[in-house]
Amino acid sequence: MAPRTILYTGKGGVGKTSVAAATARRCAAAGLRTVVLSTDSAHSLSDSLETQLTGIPTEVGPGLFGQEVQAQEEIERHWEAVSGWLGELLADQGVDRISAEELTVPPGMNELFSLLQIKEHHESGEFDVIVVDCAPTGETLRLLSFPEVCTWWLERIFPWQSRWVAAARPFAKNVLDLPLPTDAALEEVERLVRNLVAMNKILRDPALTSVRLVMTPDRMVVKEAMRTFTYLNLYGYLTDAVVVNRIFPEEAGEGYFAGWRQVQREQMELVGSAFSPVPVLTAPFLPREVLGHEMLDTLGQAVFGELAAHEVLHHELSQELSAANGHATLRLALPFTGKGDIELQRIGLEVIVRVAGQKRTIILPPAMAAYETSGARLRDGALEILFERTGDGAKADQTH
Ligand SMILES: Nc1ncnc2c1ncn2[C@@H]1O[C@H](COP(=O)(O)OP(=O)(O)OP(=O)(O)O)[C@@H](O)[C@H]1O
Ligand SMILES: [Mg+2]
Repeated sequence: MAPRTILYTGKGGVGKTSVAAATARRCAAAGLRTVVLSTDSAHSLSDSLETQLTGIPTEVGPGLFGQEVQAQEEIERHWEAVSGWLGELLADQGVDRISAEELTVPPGMNELFSLLQIKEHHESGEFDVIVVDCAPTGETLRLLSFPEVCTWWLERIFPWQSRWVAAARPFAKNVLDLPLPTDAALEEVERLVRNLVAMNKILRDPALTSVRLVMTPDRMVVKEAMRTFTYLNLYGYLTDAVVVNRIFPEEAGEGYFAGWRQVQREQMELVGSAFSPVPVLTAPFLPREVLGHEMLDTLGQAVFGELAAHEVLHHELSQELSAANGHATLRLALPFTGKGDIELQRIGLEVIVRVAGQKRTIILPPAMAAYETSGARLRDGALEILFERTGDGAKADQTH
C-alpha cells in the first residue's frame, strides 16, 4: 500500500508543529509506521517531541520517526552542479562569492527541495504514514503547481536547448567569455523537474494525500487560511480538515477574557462559513505549552476525539473554478438539495453567499479582480457563481 501523506500548514505560531507531532503520535499508537518531518527551516519538532532530531529519520518511539529536513543538505544533493555553474557565472559578473552562492537557489525553492523527502519516503516503502509540518504559508504548494509548466518546458524546449548548448559552448567560451551550463547542470535540472512532477502527482492524489489547515480563531489568521484554502482548491490539492487551535474554554470566559471568548465565537462562525463542508476540528487553549508526549497526546485527543488521525476525513475539493471566453464559474460543494433564494454579496475579492439558511464566504484568487459577479444558481448539488470579465480585460479576452 502506498503511504498516506498529511501536510499541515497555516500562519506562523498557530500550532502546526504541535498538531503535526500529535497526529504522528496517534498514527504510531494505532500501529502504523509513521514519520513526522518538518520542512520549515526554523525547526521546533525536536522541542515538541523532546528528542534531538536530524536530517535523517530518527526513531523517537515505537513505530514513530522524526526528521528535521536540512534544506542545505537537500540543496547540495539536488542542485550542486547548477549552483556551481550559476555561482561561476555570477562571480564572473562581479558578484562576490558568498552572495553568488546565496543567489544560486531561486527564492522559495528551499522548502521545495525539502519536500522532495516526501517522494523519497514514498519510494522507500518504510512508512505507512508521512506527516509533514510545513512552512507558515501555502506558498510552497503554489510553487508545486509549476511542474506542469516545467513538464511542458521539459518536453518541448529541453531537447532543443541541450542541443543548442552543446553547439554554442565553444563559441560562448571563446567569443562571449561566458560559461554555458555544463551537461551535469542540465541533467540536474531535468532530474529535479522530473522529481517535482512525480512528487506533485503524489500530493495531488486525494486518495493518498491531504492538507490540513491549522489556525487560531483570530480574524487575520482565519482570513489567511481562507486564502490558502482557495489556492489549494485552485491547484487541486485536497483539504480534508481544518484545525482551529487554542480556543478559550468556557471557564476562561469570565472577567478579563470574556471579550476574547466573544471574538472567538464570531471567528468560529466565519470558519464554518468559509470551510464547510470540510470538517472543522478544534482544540482548546491548554493550560501549558504543548511539549512532550503527555501534552501532545492531550492535544491529539482534543483534536481528533474518536476519529482516526490518518484517515482521509473529507474526500472532495470544495471549490472549483473554471474560466473561458471572459466567463468564469465557481462551483461550491453544498451538501444539500433544495431550493431557495440565493443572495450574493461581493466586496473586493470576497464573495458572501446566503442560500436556504446557509452562508458561505469565499476569497477569490487575485486574478478574479478583473471579473464581475453576474449571478448564481443551484445545479447538481452544487452552487454555481457566475462571473463576467469586465473592462479592458473583456476586450483582450474576446480577441483571443
Ligand atoms: N492548544 C494549545 N494550547 C496551548 N499552547 C499551545 C497549543 N497549541 C500550541 N501551543 C503552543 O504554542 C506555541 C506555538 O505552537 P507551534 O510551535 O506548534 O506552532 P507553529 O504553527 O508550528 O509555529 P511556527 O510557525 O513558529 O512553526 C508552542 O509553544 C506550543 O507549545
Ligand atoms: Mg512550527
